[in-house]
Amino acid sequence: MKTKIYITGSSGFIGFHVAKKLLDKGFKVHGFDSMDNYYDVNLKKSRFNILKKYKNFFFKKGSVENKKIINKSIINFKPKIIIHLAAQAGVRYSIDNPEAYLNSNIVGTFNIIQIAKKINVKHLIIASSSSVYGANTKFPFKEIDKTDLQISFYAATKKSTEILAHSYSALWKLPITMLRFFTVYGPWGRPDMAYFKFTKNILDGKKINIYNNGKMYRDYTYIDDVVNGIYKLLNKVPKLKQKKSFRNDSLSPVAPFRIFNIGNTKKVYLLDFINTLERELDKKAIKNKMPMQKGDVQSTLSNTRLLKEIINYNPSTSYRFGIKKFIDWYKAYYKKN
Ligand SMILES: NC(=O)c1ccc[n+]([C@@H]2O[C@H](COP(=O)([O-])OP(=O)(O)OC[C@H]3O[C@@H](n4cnc5c(N)ncnc54)[C@H](O)[C@@H]3O)[C@@H](O)[C@H]2O)c1
Repeated sequence: MKTKIYITGSSGFIGFHVAKKLLDKGFKVHGFDSMDNYYDVNLKKSRFNILKKYKNFFFKKGSVENKKIINKSIINFKPKIIIHLAAQAGVRYSIDNPEAYLNSNIVGTFNIIQIAKKINVKHLIIASSSSVYGANTKFPFKEIDKTDLQISFYAATKKSTEILAHSYSALWKLPITMLRFFTVYGPWGRPDMAYFKFTKNILDGKKINIYNNGKMYRDYTYIDDVVNGIYKLLNKVPKLKQKKSFRNDSLSPVAPFRIFNIGNTKKVYLLDFINTLERELDKKAIKNKMPMQKGDVQSTLSNTRLLKEIINYNPSTSYRFGIKKFIDWYKAYYKKN
């Protein structure tokens, strides 16, 4: 029988790609998503419409903070693995809407951890974020680094879920893998993210806001590298007794629990990124230089040695290639040729 996998946030950017890959590989996948209107719901519907064509795809609409709905759906499906990607994402929105983050991210993740324990899942995989490194200044970021300096409420909720998950993993020997994603981008991406807004505004002849006068860099991770990473991790279930060196680095000597960075391990300066976009779009951006945005970190860069050790993770997509793939998708989807 095919392994059953439950994915929350399946109509979202990463959830959609993960679900599609697993369906293509023949898994039985159950999706769950609130279809909220934080960004264009039609984009979520378009992703969902692709997934629903698969006969092995099942779906329930609901919010993870609604315990009754999520519990019933998971208990009925009886998944072996849960991949929890649903969250209120976005750093900037969390400044004015902290409660949405408290509910979706903290209460929602708590519900998922509890039900995972109740039905004894083989492996629970949860999305965290590179933003937990906050104001750290030692680059690249390693999983073992201290993460006590979050500077946005979004990041604070993500860090909280890591701690909640660890306590359950230690108490109940629940195998949990947490993934700190570094600026994931690509086709079917998120309209609230900078690369998406830049592309849209450049094509529409509108100005783009460049924070901190462009003096920042990001570790941009192409969606296929993220999806392949998650796929290879499915059966790499953390054990209580891990190799000593590994145990020390992945933060838990007392629980079947691991944290991994998933990044591309390369710095891309914001102005270089915009130049590449301009070249690929064959159009100049109207640049509006702005001061640093509250809650934003200046730079991110991942060290992914742990992931390489476990799954031979080797992110292979250069950002120039990735941007081109994104633009091709954008133009086709929004009929911009
Ligand atoms: N994309 C990135 O660069 C990035 C970086 C770091 C972390 N992450 C994390 O990865 C995960 C997936 O992110 P994404 O980029 O695909 O975002 P996304 O917003 O596209 O996907 C999240 C999905 O979850 C759904 N959702 C939101 N709140 C929900 C709730 N309370 N109940 C049920 N469904 C809900 C949304 O409708 C959406 O479809 C999130 O946990 C996010 O915080 C993403």
